[in-house]
Amino acid sequence: MSTKMVALSFTLFACACSNGPSAVGDGASGSGPLARGGSAGISQVGGAASGSAAGGASSSLGGASVAGAGGPGGTASGAGTSAGGAGSAGGASNAGSTGVAGGTSGTSGTGGGSVIDATCGGTNGTATNLKDKYAGCFPIGAAVDSQSYMTHGPILKAHFNSVVAENDMKFNALEPNEGSFTYTNADKIVDFASSNSMKVRGHTLVWHSQNPSWLFTGATKDTLIARMKNHIKNVVQHYKGKVYAWDVVNEAIMEDGSYRSGSGDEDKKSHWYEIIGPSYIAEAFRAAHEADPNAKLFYNDFYDYIPAKQQGIYTMLKGLLADGVPVHGVGMQCHLNIEPSTKTDNQGYYQSVENLEKAIVLYSSLGLEVQVTELDLSLYIPGVSYTKDTFYTAATFTDALELKQANRYQAFFELFRRHRNVITGVTFWGIADDNTWLSEFDSGRKDFPLLFDNNHQPKKAFDAVMNF
Ligand code: G3I
Repeated sequence: MSTKMVALSFTLFACACSNGPSAVGDGASGSGPLARGGSAGISQVGGAASGSAAGGASSSLGGASVAGAGGPGGTASGAGTSAGGAGSAGGASNAGSTGVAGGTSGTSGTGGGSVIDATCGGTNGTATNLKDKYAGCFPIGAAVDSQSYMTHGPILKAHFNSVVAENDMKFNALEPNEGSFTYTNADKIVDFASSNSMKVRGHTLVWHSQNPSWLFTGATKDTLIARMKNHIKNVVQHYKGKVYAWDVVNEAIMEDGSYRSGSGDEDKKSHWYEIIGPSYIAEAFRAAHEADPNAKLFYNDFYDYIPAKQQGIYTMLKGLLADGVPVHGVGMQCHLNIEPSTKTDNQGYYQSVENLEKAIVLYSSLGLEVQVTELDLSLYIPGVSYTKDTFYTAATFTDALELKQANRYQAFFELFRRHRNVITGVTFWGIADDNTWLSEFDSGRKDFPLLFDNNHQPKKAFDAVMNF
């Protein structure tokens, strides 16, 4: 694994950052039973949820560490089976009333989503694959690479109706040298999708990471804007009519709600911001829209459950929309964990269904669609230190743990289904556990974060999102 991989991993797992003062904790605060069954309903999304003000008191938010004492055991901090969010919904019929089986994570209903519909609004409940099961809700996607679409072809074709290139459409992959575009690998993925009637998301046009060295070398504001526009124009036009949605700007907001700036660690800072300032974001969206006016344009980021971060994203998007910038949706990456952190200074402390729901409500209050863009659910608890002895293996990924993972997956899918009127896609960051970025750490730490196992067989998590 490369140093970049390590660096990026630490972006997600060991950020030190500030957080707003009005953050709320994890755990169950839901009221009312989780209603299930019934016919398709249209959920209503309430107005803007109150979020914390960006900025505020600083606290260090660390992630799961791969060194030090501790073990994978841990206790669940989620408070159990109360799952809620019963809300009145236009046309919804409300039948059934059951809690989440096992309840590893507390979930609560806020924001007035509709009741859960067992058929997901479309199919007849007898579906045996993900894409049919969720046909009435949203496309089900998977991140693929230039090998996995073949090695994992059977499950990909059976269960997914959308793909995204995990790495092959990033800036360094498509324009490794200035003006020289290499579409070979990405084209193979797009052709595969086209042959199998799958939608294609494009990931990602402008990001602080995975850029070729020439891009920022000697760049003034004007030259960098020109380089960015040329890249976007070339790439988006190349895939015009084939890629229906683009992650135009990726990860521009920090955990405290501020812009990712030009200061700090090299792997975390944004040279885009450093050289151009915040206007690079609007410039990127305008260039993408000009290149393909029919493409849906997304802002994509992680840790959307952190109150200060979701507020920062909301404020930025509101400003862009007020300026007439063509933004159509928000991608919530959703790299999740088996349970929230119990440490108040860890980003994972905020990782609850309730907090993610607030993000959905907040973003959609702007009239934007929302997509879950990089879903996976790690076995590791943020803020807990793991050593080689406590890294999970196929042997220590027990049935009980698999069930716990399944229950947490189900709790988040309940949330997604409740907000199906604004959620227009759910994409997993990978296909099966044998090929996940979460197992690519130099430390040798393996993870099992997806719905299909190392042998491409469905896990309990698959059953959990299929059978409710
Ligand atoms: O392709 C090269 C290969 O030629 C070389 O031999 C090998 C040696 O290290 O590296 C290969 O590139 C690696 C690439 O993945 C493909 O495997 C890079 O080093 C490695 O840094 C890269 O990691 C990717 C990471 O983004 C950085 O781009 C992960 O696979 C990918 O899952 C991850 O995805 C990101 C999203 O784009 C944004 N959100 C977070 C998410 C997870 O970190």
